[in-house]
Amino acid sequence: MPRPEAEPVIEVRGLVKRYRESDRPAVDGLDLTVRAGEFVALLGPNGAGKTTTLSILTAALTKTGGTVRVAGFDLDTQAREIRANIGILFQNPSLDLRLTAEENLRFHASLYGIYGYRPAFRLMPRAYREQVRALARLLGIGDQLFERVEKFSGGMRRKLEIVRSLMHHPRVLFLDEPTQGLDPVSRQSLWDHLRSVQRTEGTTILLTTHYIEEAEGADRVFIVDHGRLLTQGTPESLKVQIADRYLLLDAADRGQLLRDLAGSPVTPREDGLLQVAFDGATPQALLARLTVPLTVLRIHVPSLEEAYLELVGREAAGGEAS
Ligand SMILES: Nc1ncnc2c1ncn2[C@@H]1O[C@H](COP(=O)(O)OP(=O)(O)O)[C@@H](O)[C@H]1O
Ligand SMILES: [Mg+2]
Repeated sequence: MPRPEAEPVIEVRGLVKRYRESDRPAVDGLDLTVRAGEFVALLGPNGAGKTTTLSILTAALTKTGGTVRVAGFDLDTQAREIRANIGILFQNPSLDLRLTAEENLRFHASLYGIYGYRPAFRLMPRAYREQVRALARLLGIGDQLFERVEKFSGGMRRKLEIVRSLMHHPRVLFLDEPTQGLDPVSRQSLWDHLRSVQRTEGTTILLTTHYIEEAEGADRVFIVDHGRLLTQGTPESLKVQIADRYLLLDAADRGQLLRDLAGSPVTPREDGLLQVAFDGATPQALLARLTVPLTVLRIHVPSLEEAYLELVGREAAGGEAS
C-alpha cells in the first residue's frame, strides 16, 4: 500500500456536473491535482463553476460524472471518510451571533464529537482549552475569544470560522470566496493567517476567488471558466505562459538598432518605441547582440491580471479593467 502522503491530496478527473434545470453543464470535464501541503486558488469569474466544484469535492453535492479522490479517499465509496478529513468554509457565514466566539467553537466541537460538551470553558478538557487558545492565537482572535460574535467585524468572523473548521485537524481545508466582502487589509490579513495555518498545521488549502490580485499569493492557481480548466500553474509561470514579455527599446541610430534586432520579433509601436518579444530567450541574450547605445530600455513583465484577462476576456472579468 502506498503511504497516503505520497499521493496527491486532491485528485479530480473529468468532473462533470449538470444541474437538472439547465442544459449547459456547470462543471464540464474538470481535472485538478493538488499535492499535500499546497495552497492553491481556483480563480474564475462568477458562474465559472467554483462553488459547484467545491460542493462536490466536500461531498455536499452529487456529481454527474468523473472521479474525485480527497485525502486518499474515493468520493463514490468513501464520502464519510472524506467529510471526516476536511474542513469547509462556505460562501455564507454560519455562526451564531448571540454566542461568544468560544461558545461557537464549543458547540461545534461537541456536535461533531471532537470533545464532550461541558457548560463552561473552564470545565472543558485541557486538550480543548489548549487547542482553542492556540488556534485563536494563530488566527489573531485570541483576545476576543469570550466576546459575543455580533461585535465582530467581517474579517474576525471569517477567522473564527476558520478556527472552527480546523478543530478536527482536517488534512484539507476548502474555502469558498473567504475574502468576499472584506476590505483589502482584512483580505491580506486573512491570507497571512491561512499561510500560518498551512505552515504550522501542514494543512492543504484550496480556496476559490474571483480577485486576481489575491490569486498571486497562492502556490498554484487554477483558472476556470464555463466549468473547464483553462490553465494552471504558479502565478509566475502563468504570467510567462500566457501574457507577452517584451522589451521596449529605442536608439538614436534606429537603422542600426533594427539591423541588430534582425531575426527577433520586432513590433513598432504608436509611441515610437520598438517592442521586442523575448519569449523563450532571456532579455540579456537579446541585449548582448546590440551594437548601438540605447536611449530607451524598458522591460515589460506581465501581471497575473493581464494573463487572466487574456484568457477569460475583459467582459467576464468585470469590464472595468483598462
Ligand atoms: N442549484 C443550481 N441549479 C441550477 N444551476 C445552478 C445551481 N447552482 C449553480 N448553478 C449554475 O451553475 C453555474 C456555475 O455556478 P457556480 O458553481 O455557483 O459558479 P461560481 O461559484 O464560480 O460563481 C452557473 O451557471 C450557475 O447559474
Ligand atoms: Mg461561487
